Amino acid sequence: MYRQQRGFFLFIFLFFVVIFLEKCSKGHGESVGTKLELIHRHHFRRNRANGMQPMTQLERLRQLLHSDTIRQRSISERLRLQKSRRQVLESPDATYYHPACTNSSRRAKNGNVSGEMTMYSGADFGTGQYFVSFKVGSPARRFMLIADTGSDLTWMNCKYRCHGAKCRKKSRKRRVFQADHSSSFVTVPCSSRMCKIELANLFSLARCPSPHTPCAYDYRYSDGSAALGIFANETVTFGLTNGTKVRIHNMLVGCSESSTGQSFQGADGVMGLGYSNYSFALKAAEKFGGKFSYCLVDHLSPQNVSSYLIFGSHESVDYVTTLHRMQHTELVLGVINPFYAVNIKGISIGSIMLKIPAEVWNVNGVGGMILDSGSSLTFLTRPAYQPVMAALRLSLISFTRLKLDIPQLEFCFNSTGFDESLVPRLVFHFADGARFEPPVKSYVIDVAAGAKCLGFVPTAWPGASVIGNIMQQNHIWEFDLANNRLSFGSSSCT
Ligand SMILES: *[C@@H]1O[C@H](CO)[C@@H](O)[C@H](O)[C@H]1NC(C)=O
Ligand SMILES: *[C@@H]1O[C@H](CO)[C@@H](O)[C@H](O)[C@H]1NC(C)=O
Ligand SMILES: *[C@@H]1O[C@H](CO)[C@@H](O)[C@H](O)[C@H]1NC(C)=O
Ligand SMILES: *[C@@H]1O[C@H](CO)[C@@H](O)[C@H](O)[C@H]1NC(C)=O
Ligand SMILES: *[C@@H]1O[C@H](CO)[C@@H](O)[C@H](O)[C@H]1NC(C)=O
Ligand SMILES: *[C@@H]1O[C@H](CO)[C@@H](O)[C@H](O)[C@H]1NC(C)=O
Ligand SMILES: *[C@@H]1O[C@H](CO)[C@@H](O)[C@H](O)[C@H]1NC(C)=O
Repeated sequence: MYRQQRGFFLFIFLFFVVIFLEKCSKGHGESVGTKLELIHRHHFRRNRANGMQPMTQLERLRQLLHSDTIRQRSISERLRLQKSRRQVLESPDATYYHPACTNSSRRAKNGNVSGEMTMYSGADFGTGQYFVSFKVGSPARRFMLIADTGSDLTWMNCKYRCHGAKCRKKSRKRRVFQADHSSSFVTVPCSSRMCKIELANLFSLARCPSPHTPCAYDYRYSDGSAALGIFANETVTFGLTNGTKVRIHNMLVGCSESSTGQSFQGADGVMGLGYSNYSFALKAAEKFGGKFSYCLVDHLSPQNVSSYLIFGSHESVDYVTTLHRMQHTELVLGVINPFYAVNIKGISIGSIMLKIPAEVWNVNGVGGMILDSGSSLTFLTRPAYQPVMAALRLSLISFTRLKLDIPQLEFCFNSTGFDESLVPRLVFHFADGARFEPPVKSYVIDVAAGAKCLGFVPTAWPGASVIGNIMQQNHIWEFDLANNRLSFGSSSCT
């Protein structure tokens, strides 16, 4: 049975990953950018080197969901930890503001010019993440980083003080930042206050054999991945919407000499877009009025369709057009660091408000909702999951259930004859009145030709729920860190 299913899945197109082999053969042809070439070399080399067969789409989907699940578990763990710590400290409001972001006269001065970076769907890389193209060092070198709102450290694969034959040998499998060749690379000393106190949340290590030894880290991700290396201040470069380049000096970066974990496949590192004093998001947003935004293109988009990560107001970017008016809601900062939380009031399906206990949404209690670019699916704690699934299943009752070998997705069906209009619209209602109405394809997701699944994953209560990146697709999301405001609106992202 299992074998049969595998055979079946070898044929078909999965939502999360573009057909790998087909793309590889096409990769040698014309009209494919550097982006594509890079990707496929990665995968083939890695698989061949390990003597493994390239993975099937189903295997990759399982892997993706596996890291999603672990990430989710540890988000809840983090929530619990921060809650207990907060009760001890008993500060009335754990939210903190970056001083430079709160001054509105500074915002106005920056006017309409924004920073921009190209953003790609990770489907090209065989993952459910989104990637950002980013330049580091002097001279500037380009890297592809995972855009992660749940991460506070920005790092890339890197070599430091590396001499001899081993280091001269260029690795063709991945891009590596040669720290010694960059004139702006300055390590953070392990004896500094920054290393010992401020970077403790970023997993700095106490090891300090001599005062000038670089401050080392062992950064642990919620999905079990890890990166080891040293902290440094570096210059990063990116484009402005008026066509010139901007350099940001003294940006904290991680020079990762080793990393382990599924989540980094295809990437040169991670861009920390989380809410934390040393995250890239805060430092870059500080230069552009305290705001950043992104628009996630559909995973099914053609490979040449990309989008942008914008620092500054999204309004200054004329190629991003919202189809409807932007909605605004409070962005809850500092409660489940470094994640971005929102105040949800309820979920309705087909205009009927579901019966979900209010504490499920209370981010100051033991619940809450997080917006996460690093999770693919949407996780709902049991008291929310059950009514949502029940209401959606009801509308799909006439379709044949399929038993796919994807344990996290409970309800899959043969989608022959499926029409989106059969599914009542799901709406997330925010406490302050805003409404987020994702397209049906964001929750009745394609998993294979002729097969769809409800894209919700149950998670334990008490705990936090997570709006993942599939749910966020085809919308602009603007994070205004200076004003604690999240704005969103549907968009084609191009
Ligand atoms: C904001 O910055 C301006 C100058 O850039 C300064 O005059 C003003 O006092 C600052 N406001 C606050 C609240 O820091
Ligand atoms: C941006 O430019 C538009 C018109 O070009 C102007 O109306 C708007 O006020 C500007 N926004 C800011 C923040 O300066
Ligand atoms: C673009 O904007 C930046 C920052 O406002 C400014 O320094 C630069 O001169 C501008 N470049 C052009 C070509 O207008
Ligand atoms: C690194 O940059 C920070 C500001 O982000 C600064 O406070 C610190 O002194 C710098 N450290 C070094 C070693 O340059
Ligand atoms: C961030 O910086 C502010 C001001 O410098 C400080 O009050 C706050 O404790 C810092 N937050 C963290 C999480 O380190
Ligand atoms: C992407 O490629 C398709 C054909 O391969 C072409 O029709 C389309 O115009 C391209 N889009 C962009 C944005 O380049
Ligand atoms: C779905 O049903 C149709 C017709 O009932 C059948 O031809 C097709 O093979 C089924 N697809 C799957 C994936 O089971």
